[in-house]
Amino acid sequence: MKSKSLVSIDDFSTEEILKILDLAAEFEKEPTSKCLEGKVIATLFFEPSTRTRLSFESAISRLGGKIIGFTDASSSSVTKGETLNDTIRTVSNYCDLIVMRHPSEGSARFASEIASVPVINAGDGANQHPSQTLLDLFSIRKTQNTLDNLNIFMVGDLKYGRTVHSLMMAMSRWNTTFNFIAPEELKMPDEFKLYLENLGLKYYEHNDFTDIISRADIIYMTRVQKERFSDPIEYEKVKNIYVLRESMLKNTKSNLKILHPLPRVNEIHQDVDKNSKAYYFDQALNGVYTRQAILCSLLGIK
Ligand code: CP
Repeated sequence: MKSKSLVSIDDFSTEEILKILDLAAEFEKEPTSKCLEGKVIATLFFEPSTRTRLSFESAISRLGGKIIGFTDASSSSVTKGETLNDTIRTVSNYCDLIVMRHPSEGSARFASEIASVPVINAGDGANQHPSQTLLDLFSIRKTQNTLDNLNIFMVGDLKYGRTVHSLMMAMSRWNTTFNFIAPEELKMPDEFKLYLENLGLKYYEHNDFTDIISRADIIYMTRVQKERFSDPIEYEKVKNIYVLRESMLKNTKSNLKILHPLPRVNEIHQDVDKNSKAYYFDQALNGVYTRQAILCSLLGIK
């Protein structure tokens, strides 16, 4: 896989995805091999991040690599008017791989086309977040012992939530039953529903999930993406539309796990945290192993 970028989850075949998940499982057992020694990784974050940036940087550090980059576009020459083209061409000369988060959809594809090194899309606007998807797949396979034939509930902001877009595309490979739970304003966009329709896959749309929660194998909660709304009044209308509480989990399946890419705001009440079905903090930990595997795969090291 040398020199390949990860911009969309569809850049990887099913075989390549499974290879990364297997490699991540190896890193889970032994997270501190020095396979990135001598490598320099640039982390360019034009938007805020806690988990994605820090788990990439933890992954790089544990593997003996070096990190350069910025956590805020205001500390880069973008503030002087430098284009993304010029930033990427320059940074390509300083590193072996670029991890980039950017608010514009399509920016990661653009960067991958001009960079002389592999680019990992760490989130491009409301479009995709494929490294999150690989850690989500790792978490699903680990907790369910399979990726096949699962009933996944995606809840919340399905319009702007890039994590659900990438995860839906990935899980379409494993005969998933999709239940999309969102208010009218935040429904899964047509382009992603068409993606499933073209594969002959069914999906179900709902406004609420309290009556059907007993069917779920995975509930994937999402935050309403405040930063993508142009009108704050529209955000206020939907910001607390779904709140998962522990009392709602009484009649759920024994294998159910609750995932959330995090950060959460109010959509999972803190009383859920103590329930053994809550998996979101373990999911965030899995991000380190999965990102170790992605980095090594893209650099052709493993
Ligand atoms: N899941 C995720 O992308 O979190 P951060 O925004 O904190 O990176």
